[in-house]
Amino acid sequence: MTKKILITGGAGYIGSHIVEILVKNKKKIFIIDNLSTGHRRLINKKATFYKADINNATLINKIIIKNKIDSVIHLAANLIIAESEKYPKKYYKNNVIGTQKLLKACKNSSIKNFIFSSTAAIYKDGQYKVNENSKIKPKSVYGKTKIKCEKYIQNFCKKNKINYGILRYFNIAGSSPSGKIGLINKSDHLFKNFSREIMKKKPILKIYGNDYKTKDGTCIRDFIHVMDIADIHFKVLQKIDKIKISKILNCGYNRGTSVLEVAKEFKKLAKKKVKILVTNRRKDDLVKIIASNKKLTRFIKWKPKYNSLNKMVKSCLNWEKRQ
Ligand SMILES: NC(=O)c1ccc[n+]([C@@H]2O[C@H](COP(=O)([O-])OP(=O)(O)OC[C@H]3O[C@@H](n4cnc5c(N)ncnc54)[C@H](O)[C@@H]3O)[C@@H](O)[C@H]2O)c1
Repeated sequence: MTKKILITGGAGYIGSHIVEILVKNKKKIFIIDNLSTGHRRLINKKATFYKADINNATLINKIIIKNKIDSVIHLAANLIIAESEKYPKKYYKNNVIGTQKLLKACKNSSIKNFIFSSTAAIYKDGQYKVNENSKIKPKSVYGKTKIKCEKYIQNFCKKNKINYGILRYFNIAGSSPSGKIGLINKSDHLFKNFSREIMKKKPILKIYGNDYKTKDGTCIRDFIHVMDIADIHFKVLQKIDKIKISKILNCGYNRGTSVLEVAKEFKKLAKKKVKILVTNRRKDDLVKIIASNKKLTRFIKWKPKYNSLNKMVKSCLNWEKRQ
């Protein structure tokens, strides 16, 4: 059974939630993070923290060997789509080369399992509902770096007899009921922007375009609660370890929620006057994308626990109030 787990990017938003669940389940956790977008306050006190970069293969290899680590969950990456278009080299170096260096550090070591954070941004635009065999054609440099990583991981793990789990996340929102961790800074995150706005005296929730061909004219996403994402990591890791198998899995609810529905839920829970303002469409926004999650639900016999918009919005507001 997997016991000692290395998490890259464990001082980040999603990583800190995964660490929280794994610590609760008595796993011994080692975090590697360079704190470029992560935060010390998100680091779980029960984990061993190394301020290090995934590009430092020699150091990471030493950490793996010294601590007899058996599994890696690899989240460390840059992930702002607009920034990736502006600085493609930075994204290629950090995401692709960084992943290759990390894999190098796992070579000839005790690593048996490798979980990777991929994204829905690798799928071709306009497919509405996607399964793991849907067309891959990332629009952004960010998406391109992630699909490159997927390929490297598959090849490397096959050669080195490591089980891999490639998890393609859809849109993540919410925060832990512990109130200790949450999303600190993200410029292009819908739930974060709305939460920040609600804290103001006269909140205005901005929606970019309501003339799309959708049920209410606004864009549609498959939002998934970060606690459910964390739970998926725990369960997928246990399963690939137990039955020695590798999988690529979409992580979403198989359900679309419109941006207007999200705005209305914030308005309902705000307990003050809130204005919803529709402005022009933004360039490059996908109209709708929803995860077919059949493969995931079958593989780990998974039932989400936090799949209500109300829970997601409430947890965002609770976290934001503490900031
Ligand atoms: N947030 C989302 O909605 C979403 C959706 C799909 C996929 N993902 C993926 O999930 C992962 C985590 O995303 P997040 O939202 O928690 O972002 P985040 O920025 O909060 O976390 C990333 C963490 O990685 C660290 N990091 C970055 N480069 C590093 C390096 N070279 N060496 C060591 N540490 C490094 C950062 O300091 C940060 O703590 C990413 O791989 C991202 O691509 C996120």
